[in-house]
Amino acid sequence: MFSLYLMVISMTKGYSEQTAGAKLCIDLATDWGLDCITGINSKNILMMDFGAADGGTAIEFWSKLIKKVKISNPEAYVSLIGNDLFSNDNKTLINNISVHSNSYQNYSSFLCGGSFYDQLVPSEFLDFGFSATAMHWLNKKVDSLHNHTHVLASDNKEAFEDFQKQALLDWNQILFMRSKELKVGGKLLTVNLSRDSHNRYLGNNGGKTLNVHDQIHNIWHELLEEGLITSEEYKKGTIQNFYKSPEEFLSPLNNKNSESYKNGLRLIEERTVYVDCPYKKEWEKNNNLDEFASGLMETIRSWSRHSFIAALSDISSRKENPVDILFERLKKRIKSDPNNWSLDYVEHHLMMEKV
Ligand SMILES: C[S@@+](CC[C@H](N)C(=O)[O-])C[C@H]1O[C@@H](n2cnc3c(N)ncnc32)[C@H](O)[C@@H]1O
Repeated sequence: MFSLYLMVISMTKGYSEQTAGAKLCIDLATDWGLDCITGINSKNILMMDFGAADGGTAIEFWSKLIKKVKISNPEAYVSLIGNDLFSNDNKTLINNISVHSNSYQNYSSFLCGGSFYDQLVPSEFLDFGFSATAMHWLNKKVDSLHNHTHVLASDNKEAFEDFQKQALLDWNQILFMRSKELKVGGKLLTVNLSRDSHNRYLGNNGGKTLNVHDQIHNIWHELLEEGLITSEEYKKGTIQNFYKSPEEFLSPLNNKNSESYKNGLRLIEERTVYVDCPYKKEWEKNNNLDEFASGLMETIRSWSRHSFIAALSDISSRKENPVDILFERLKKRIKSDPNNWSLDYVEHHLMMEKV
């Protein structure tokens, strides 16, 4: 039997290596994950991880859940389905969710490529659905933000309303699909990037350090002023996501006319949790400034780069890719003023049941 720790080191790569914070967010949801699977007495238990990326950040989470199921229900056949988009590194995902078969018999892992905006498994199929840090990207592009790169850091009220409207449409759709897939009595746990009542969100910790989104925008604007991007590209440089508030997360569950509510999806519990920047913490311990600046820049780049690449009309004719310059400058800024940088997470946990 393999050591789980060694498996984590050897099987994860790419996404997991660049997102230390995402694993901490999942770890903090383990207590509710264990609550969700308590008392499942079916002989055939089906669980699913939606938007799992390479699956590395959730290995420990799933290991604890499977162990609990196996102790309380030793005869059960347990299946874990990993989901992400077709374009994802799904080979690594299937490897990472398969590691549990080294520890348990009567365990199978499956891969389900596709979008969680669609129904992904048959109706009344799942005992437990889980998703972490995946449901903040908009399903349809909103192009009304022209004076910033992130709507929450901007002062653009009209764009805020457009993003909020799309985000709520998307969230209703996501919950409606999950309400179809869950068995009656099945549970759903979502762990999502959010904004709290003080308007704090990933990149904005209420002024303890610089707002990361303002800094990204500031550099993007510099590139415009230096003629390295056109005004059209400047306007198109928009991060197409939205960090929902607790009220927005709860809205389909409080609305008796929503499709998910009509389909039986109900709120059990919700909470907001905070995760301090792991790169900052490590720097405070080891004082390695280069490692801090690189690590922080790379984690920011991992989720924002594609938005800026998509804004460019032509890369091939340029001497230098302006998006590379953006992240080089970001790293330089972090290095020159490290005390003023941190990427702290605000995450919303929502536990639901299909009745
Ligand atoms: C930030 S990663 C989170 C990965 C992992 N759940 C974690 O918490 O570490 C977000 C993942 O969601 C996936 N994703 C985004 N939109 C999706 C969709 N519509 N359907 C399925 N996966 C999606 C992305 O491809 C990406 O792998």
